[in-house]
Amino acid sequence: MDLFEYQARDLFEKHGVPVLGGIVATTPEEARAAAEQLLGDSGGVVVVKAQVKIGGRGKAGGVKVAKSAQEAADRASEILGMDIKGHTVHRVMIAAGADIAEEYYFSVLLDRSERRYLAMASVEGGMEIEELAVERPEALARVPVDPQVGIDQAKADEIVAAAGFAADVAPKVAAAIQKLWTVYREEDATLVEVNPLVKTGAGDIVALDGKVTLDTNADFRHADHAELEDKAAADPLEAKAKAAGLNYVKLDGEVGIIGNGAGLVMSTLDVVAYAGQAHGGVKPANFLDIGGGASAAVMSAGLDVILNDPQVKSVFVNVFGGITACDEVANGIVQALEILGDKENKPLVVRLDGNAVEEGRAILARAAHPLVTVVDTMDGAADKAAELANS
Ligand SMILES: Nc1ncnc2c1ncn2[C@@H]1O[C@H](COP(=O)(O)OP(=O)(O)OP(=O)(O)O)[C@@H](O)[C@H]1O
Ligand SMILES: [Mg+2]
Repeated sequence: MDLFEYQARDLFEKHGVPVLGGIVATTPEEARAAAEQLLGDSGGVVVVKAQVKIGGRGKAGGVKVAKSAQEAADRASEILGMDIKGHTVHRVMIAAGADIAEEYYFSVLLDRSERRYLAMASVEGGMEIEELAVERPEALARVPVDPQVGIDQAKADEIVAAAGFAADVAPKVAAAIQKLWTVYREEDATLVEVNPLVKTGAGDIVALDGKVTLDTNADFRHADHAELEDKAAADPLEAKAKAAGLNYVKLDGEVGIIGNGAGLVMSTLDVVAYAGQAHGGVKPANFLDIGGGASAAVMSAGLDVILNDPQVKSVFVNVFGGITACDEVANGIVQALEILGDKENKPLVVRLDGNAVEEGRAILARAAHPLVTVVDTMDGAADKAAELANS
């Protein structure tokens, strides 16, 4: 889960990273009040910053300086509602203005291919960092971090030396980097990036912008992370599926997919996309893995999510009976259809195979639900589901 800058700022503050005051606002009036609060101790300048989860806000006009509360309200009313690369601005952060002497760059992230972490730092930070990384990669130091050790004093000193920080700031930058590592480790992040990390006129080191990605696999360790989720932006069906404990991803097509096991669902997506080419180019509408237990409750929860997607025209249930045998799955489907009642109004193609397949097919044949078609092969079932979606 990516965080907004203001949320990253709050986490930085919690872990002792040097930051300036920042207050989130959703209206020009709130922006004015926030600026009044901050102007006193920020040298008479605040910065109004668009809060969107996309880079390049400054270049897109989403970061503006204001010298009074009125100006802050004016800039906020310009920035709120703005579209930045497809992201609508619903909030701004009013940040205390910094007296910037130099802009640096620092990040630490999960390097999956190397199975460790990677720290990056540069004394030439700021809005041109992407260009710098391409044109002069040597100006961006890359230092591997051993997960067993993390960024201790020695590693922080190594990073600071590799990036070529001047002696007057090196100790302070190394201290800030260790605090940022604390954020990364304590919050179970997969990315912590600060651009710019600045030296102020007074010689202090401050994180002026923050990007943090949290590892949602570690949510069980962080009860407080739930409130960081941007519920307004979440797809309502994805939220519903998550609440039911289902693995669901919405896609663009017309054929709803339910399967047991991520591998089977992945290959079902491929088979449906291929079959769809012969039926007007219909495509899979979603990824939904109901996992090992295909009980009636799980099946009806899954069907309920998929049938509520108005784009779905047909549903393909593809189950391979293993520990959960096909007769249980078939009973699950029959009961799910009873639970859903009139809500079930789209054709269902069911393919069962594996443990107790004959019993499973017999159960579906006896139930003879008018909307259910049983097809024995995966290719055949995909073709039928695509045909029904296109008719
Ligand atoms: N609190 C502040 N005080 C003074 N100047 C600031 C402040 N925050 C940002 N700036 C200036 O604005 C520039 C852009 O700000 P920031 O880094 O937050 O946005 P961005 O880099 O454009 O966005 P993103 O990092 O999402 O691409 C900074 O490089 C810095 O020069
Ligand atoms: Mg930035």
